[in-house]
Amino acid sequence: GHTSFLVFSASLRTGSLNTKLAELAAQVIQKNGGTVDFASMVEFDCPSFNQDLEVDNYHPKGAEEFRKRILANDAFIIASPEYNGSMPGIIKNMIDWVSRYRPQPFHQHHALLMSASPSMAGGNRGLWSLRIPLEHLGTRVYPDMFSLATAHEAFDTSGSIADEKLAKRFEDNLVSFMNLVEASKHYPCIKKA
Ligand code: FNR
Repeated sequence: GHTSFLVFSASLRTGSLNTKLAELAAQVIQKNGGTVDFASMVEFDCPSFNQDLEVDNYHPKGAEEFRKRILANDAFIIASPEYNGSMPGIIKNMIDWVSRYRPQPFHQHHALLMSASPSMAGGNRGLWSLRIPLEHLGTRVYPDMFSLATAHEAFDTSGSIADEKLAKRFEDNLVSFMNLVEASKHYPCIKKA
């Protein structure tokens, strides 16, 4: 069947630029024949990680929801803000909680990372930091990452990227990723174990 993508923004903010970018990613995926499971970070909200809470196989609701959604889809896409040159605490906290499941849900899943920032660097450093825990957990993080710089003025009124060349680069990035995820479904040797 269709290749399905869990898409979400790592920002909780109303009017988030990353949520806008995630919504655009969802549109582009659907336009190119993929299925989208769009999530909100609110659904994955977890208490501050504390090993003392891990009694009787406890996992917070937000972690359980993420585990379910990651397993129900072929790949996941995160649009994440950059905070202080790194990833937001809420996403690292959620990753830490989810990493405690066995089997470990991130293992061998495909992921694509993107970021939107009003800055000139477009949140790229945040994505490099987000790669670290994901790759540590065995996620196949796509090499190419998309950073939308000066994102507060990058969208047109329909929610697309106004600059044509940049809009094409965004779509090409997504389609290359979609092709990889689709292809890997047909090769048992690289399928999820
Ligand atoms: C920021 N912002 C920011 N931007 C950036 O490009 N590099 C950075 O290091 C930081 N650091 C940072 C720290 C904190 C605590 C906040 C709140 C913000 C600005 C950030 O990119 C901007 O607020 C975005 O709009 C956040 O993403 P959303 O919420 O619009 O998706």
